[in-house]
Amino acid sequence: MTLWYLARGSGLVLLAVLTANLVLGIAIQGGWHPGTWPRFAVQAMHRNLALLAVVLLAIHVVTIELDPFVPVGWWAALVPFVSPYRPLWLGLGTLSLDLMGAVVVTSLLRAHLRPRWWRVIHWLTYLSWPVAVLHSLGTGTDTRLTWVFGFEVGCVGLVAATVIFRVARATRPRAGVRGLLMVAVAATPMAVLAWSTAGPLQSGWARRAGSPTTALASGGPAAARGQASAQVPFTARFLGSATSSPSGQGETITISGRVQGGAGGQLLVSLAASRLPDGTVTVDRGTVTYRPALGSQVYKGAVVSVVPGSLVLRLARGGGGAVPAELTIQGPVPATSVSGLLYFGAVPASQGGEDGGQDS
Ligand code: HEM
Repeated sequence: MTLWYLARGSGLVLLAVLTANLVLGIAIQGGWHPGTWPRFAVQAMHRNLALLAVVLLAIHVVTIELDPFVPVGWWAALVPFVSPYRPLWLGLGTLSLDLMGAVVVTSLLRAHLRPRWWRVIHWLTYLSWPVAVLHSLGTGTDTRLTWVFGFEVGCVGLVAATVIFRVARATRPRAGVRGLLMVAVAATPMAVLAWSTAGPLQSGWARRAGSPTTALASGGPAAARGQASAQVPFTARFLGSATSSPSGQGETITISGRVQGGAGGQLLVSLAASRLPDGTVTVDRGTVTYRPALGSQVYKGAVVSVVPGSLVLRLARGGGGAVPAELTIQGPVPATSVSGLLYFGAVPASQGGEDGGQDS
């Protein structure tokens, strides 16, 4: 599991570093200078960010390769579009790596190259970045998390704004052409947003993107490591935390954490509750989001009944049938650490629930 988190985390930090360096590079070219910083310090920062990106890329690729969940293969890390896992979208990551590799190698050999050649190859950085962004959106398990998607579109917005700044300060080409260019660049974040809404944010993207059916059926890394089957129904451990915050006349109780075993992933329960004068808390309504470890499926639903220590849930994923589930919680809520069990696909007989609502 650590490898998987490292792979995804390093990918996101890498994108942040590449974006920051690209923005810095374009801004410097456009004549921007940060306050009292000497020129060599800005250039050293540009170089060090590039080195950091190389280290992060190495971590990203090695952790992806060592993680048994995503069947990529070492060749696919160097040769674009040959991976059995999401060939196009992963291939764009590989293409970006190759382009960056060309820039790094020619920068090291700069003294032996004609400046014109070095500059032409250095321009490949501009190409490697959008290719990496498309890879991130199309391959990433976390694209459907609001903050991850917001971050990725934010990177596009930031680069677009910097390019507009650069074009606005340029004297060539003609003003009319520059105006058109700025409009086109300003439209890119919207285009990315529209494409993502029709593609990676849709349920079923994992299959369309070319995840092997074994990876889809396995239910994610937990199952791939043989810890438990992701066949529905399953019972898995839940580990997380529960917080409470005032909301209107009542309070909102948020229970969030990891599902260990079964299909793995993250579970979030949000309860709107009222506190009675005698101090007891009654739950008025609740919503649930369950995101199995293989992130193409998101189950959303409601809390249908609450008994002490247990929430009976009803979930559904886009286009799929309803799935009964139950979350039991041991100990008091709120608490920094809570644990319990998630019954997914069936509610235990003791609760008189439904059985085996298979949705796979
Ligand atoms: C400059 C190049 C690259 C950048 C900026 C980059 C960045 C990213 C980002 C931001 C993600 C999304 C992580 C998430 O959703 O949590 C990702 C996912 C991924 N990347 Fe890359 N990547 C690059 C190159 C590569 C290469 C060369 C490979 C080939 C081994 C690769 C394999 C993957 C895989 C398999 C995933 C999906 C992981 C998952 O969420 O399950 N990436 N990458």
